[in-house]
Amino acid sequence: MTAMRDRPRVPEPDGNVPAGGRADPDDGRYDVIRLDRFLCEAGAGTRSQAKALIKAGRVSVDGERAISADLKIEENRTRVLLDGRPLFLPGNVYYLLNKPAGVITAASDARERTVMDLLKEAPGRGLFPVGRLDRDTVGLLLITNDGALSHRLLSPSRHVEKRYLVRTARPVTEEMCRFLEAGVDIGDEKPTLPARTERLKDEPCGLYLTITEGRYHQVKRMLAAAGNEVTGLKRVSMGPLSLEETLPEGAWRELTKEERNALGV
Ligand code: URA
Repeated sequence: MTAMRDRPRVPEPDGNVPAGGRADPDDGRYDVIRLDRFLCEAGAGTRSQAKALIKAGRVSVDGERAISADLKIEENRTRVLLDGRPLFLPGNVYYLLNKPAGVITAASDARERTVMDLLKEAPGRGLFPVGRLDRDTVGLLLITNDGALSHRLLSPSRHVEKRYLVRTARPVTEEMCRFLEAGVDIGDEKPTLPARTERLKDEPCGLYLTITEGRYHQVKRMLAAAGNEVTGLKRVSMGPLSLEETLPEGAWRELTKEERNALGV
C-alpha cells in the first residue's frame, strides 16, 4: 500500500500536508521493504516480534490496520504507525517547501505558526529549516535533519547562491542594478558582496537578485539602500535547488535523486 507518487503535497485546510509521494525514489539501502523488516529497522523489535505486533493489530499502514507482514512499504512515503505513533527508518531526509507568507521560519515556537507545522506529516526525526526566510517572504526553503548539509549550505565561506524574485514599490532602473551588483553599504561592518541582477522583462517594478550571503533582511536592506522598497519577496533557488512553478505555496516534496546528488547527499 503506497501513497501517490510524483505529486506535490498540498496543505489541507488545517495546514497539514497529506503524506505522499516521493518524486524520485531512492535506490539506496531501503526504498521498498516488507512491513516486518520496516518495523525491525525502525526499532520496533525483532522480526518475530514485528510479526506479533502486526498480528495483534497494533500496526497501521497509510491509515489502515495492517494484516500482512509482507506488505510493501516505500521508504519515506508509506506512513506506518505503531499504537498510533509514527515509525521512521533511520537516516537523513530532505524536503523542499514552498514557504507561504504568514508563517515563521523556526523549528518550533510556542505562539506562532512555523514552517514545521506545514510538514507535520513528513517522515523523519529532528527536522529543521536550513536558513531563514522572513515571515512575509515566500518560496524555496529546504527542510532536513542533515546538520552537516545545513552547515555547508549556510557557511559564509561557501558563498552559496540564493536567487530572489523581488517586487518593488518603484521602478527598478539600470543604475539601481549596477548599485546592487557592486556591493552595498547596508549599515553592517562590511558592504554586501557583489550580486547579480536581472530586470523583469514586462514589469518595471521588479527584478531577480542573486546574492551569496544570508544577512538579516539582506534583500530588503539592499533595496532600501538603493532608494527603493521591497513589496514582495520570493526565493526561487538556493545552490542547485530550484523552486518549480507547479509546487503551490504551503506544499512540500522530497528532493529528487538528482537534487540530492547535486548537494552531495
Ligand atoms: N532577504 C530578506 O530581506 N528577507 C528574506 O526573507 C530573505 C532575504
